[in-house]
Amino acid sequence: MIKIAVLGYGTVGSGVVEVIEKNKEMVNKKAGEELEVKYILDLLDFPDDPYGDRVIHDFGTILADDEIRIICETMGGVGKAYEFTKLALQAGKSVCTSNKELVAAHGPELLALAKSNNCNYLFEASVGGGIPIIRPLNYSLTAERIEAITGILNGTTNYILSKMEYEGADYETVLKEAQEKGYAERNPEADVEGHDACRKIAILSSLMTGKNVDYRRIYTEGITGIQPRDFAYAKQMGMSIKLLAISREEKGKTLAMVSPFLIDAGHPLHMVNGVFNAVFVRGNMLGDSMYYGRGAGKLPTASAVVSDVIDCARHIGKVIMCFWDAQEAELAVIDQASRRFFLRVKTEGADRARALFGAGTEKVTLPGVPEECGLITPVMTEADFAESYGKLDGLCVGRRLRLEA
Ligand code: HSE
Repeated sequence: MIKIAVLGYGTVGSGVVEVIEKNKEMVNKKAGEELEVKYILDLLDFPDDPYGDRVIHDFGTILADDEIRIICETMGGVGKAYEFTKLALQAGKSVCTSNKELVAAHGPELLALAKSNNCNYLFEASVGGGIPIIRPLNYSLTAERIEAITGILNGTTNYILSKMEYEGADYETVLKEAQEKGYAERNPEADVEGHDACRKIAILSSLMTGKNVDYRRIYTEGITGIQPRDFAYAKQMGMSIKLLAISREEKGKTLAMVSPFLIDAGHPLHMVNGVFNAVFVRGNMLGDSMYYGRGAGKLPTASAVVSDVIDCARHIGKVIMCFWDAQEAELAVIDQASRRFFLRVKTEGADRARALFGAGTEKVTLPGVPEECGLITPVMTEADFAESYGKLDGLCVGRRLRLEA
């Protein structure tokens, strides 16, 4: 029998206990041994919970108990979670986590610590919730050089953007509704400003390059300021607007960024709507593959954590390889990245804008909207676009958007 401790009895932690209990027979068979949740660490007591008798408040009890071989860290944050994870790994106890903040901030250090203590630090649930993506990158696509990863990695923003697209609603109304339904946090900044997606693409980029991609160096824009009229233009152009997290090889460096993009109806990520996430991976041998599913939620996320628990149970005393060195990856400067851009200008500024962006600039108009038009620039660098865009002061409407090929 392998005994487990769960740190944090919130949404994901209680989901972990539920998955282990509901799928007991199959989970045990796949783990090769019976798994039992011995402790649940939380600040609160849960007297009415069927597992309430396992709730403790002192991490020291877990650390001192030699029976505990695997710990699920579902606390979140980088404070106590970091401290407890380090202590657990130093004690040779494997840790499985859904904590993307901690993985993005200290992944290489914790992986090295696990390795030197003959145990494992696994984090399938940290990106894409229940979608298998860490294991495919680590186990399945090992013959590939991964050239690019493009993901819809945040369910909250994808839900908001989908609602705006299909219901014509404005950002504030949809955000409020998402908060009421519990899809968006009361403080939605981490999601809507792209910080959550940034940490997730930092993790995927690190696995793609085998080096550390520091999330603090990833260019990040969120979805605030996108208006219903942007979706009207997108529809007119046969496109959609998605918050994409991108990482790709560019001239020997890694270009990583998070930003809203206009994507064409032919793009596989175009059909990813609502709270769903997807990760589109391009390998140099396989070509394109896509991983799609529920990127958040109690049971999908817990299912991914339990899949790591099973992996740990199968590898007691053995280290599962994960290529993520502490050495910093060389990141490309976004200024030199080239793409097409979409901007909206007041009608009186259209000629000036076209003169600035060049002859290849395409114009898009909306029926019944004579006061402005949309423009799609030719392919140009971010720096060149920014310079010309800056010269249109007072003539632009809304925010500019990037186009993903
Ligand atoms: N806030 C995240 C999301 C939860 O909306 O995708 C999962 O990491």
